[in-house]
Amino acid sequence: MSEHLYWNEIYKTGVEKIDRQHRKLFDLFERLRQSLKFGLNNPIVGATIKDLVEYTQEHFADEEEIQKQINFEEYKRHQKLHRDLLNEMAQILLKLKNNEQFNAMDLLNFLKHWIQDHILKEDLKIGEAYKKTVDSAASINN
Ligand SMILES: [Fe+2]
Repeated sequence: MSEHLYWNEIYKTGVEKIDRQHRKLFDLFERLRQSLKFGLNNPIVGATIKDLVEYTQEHFADEEEIQKQINFEEYKRHQKLHRDLLNEMAQILLKLKNNEQFNAMDLLNFLKHWIQDHILKEDLKIGEAYKKTVDSAASINN
C-alpha cells in the first residue's frame, strides 16, 4: 500500500507546537490506515475517523490562534481552508453513519494529499511569518 504518510523534516514549520501537533496528525492518519484493514463497516473505522476529526479541530484552533498572535496576513484564507476540510470530513462521517459506500483508498489518498499539500503550501508560510515576528521582537530587545 502506498498511502503511508511519513513525517520528515520537509514538513517542519519551526513552530514547535504546530510541528508537534502535525506529528500527532500523521500518527492518527496511520491509525486510520491500519483500521481500514478491518473493513469500512467495522465500528473501529468510524471511531478512528472521529478521533482524527476531533484532533484536527483542536489543532486547527491552536494553529489559527498562533496566526492571530503574529497577525498572519493570510489568516482568513487559511481559516477557510481549514473549515472546508472539516466540512468534507463531516460529509464522510455522515456517509459512514448512513452506511453509504465509499472507497477507503479514495479517502486515504484524499487525506494524505490534503495533509501534505496543506503543510507544504500553507503551514510553512506560518513558520516563515512566525520567524520574522520572533526575529523582529529580538532586535527590538537588543
Ligand atoms: Fe493549517
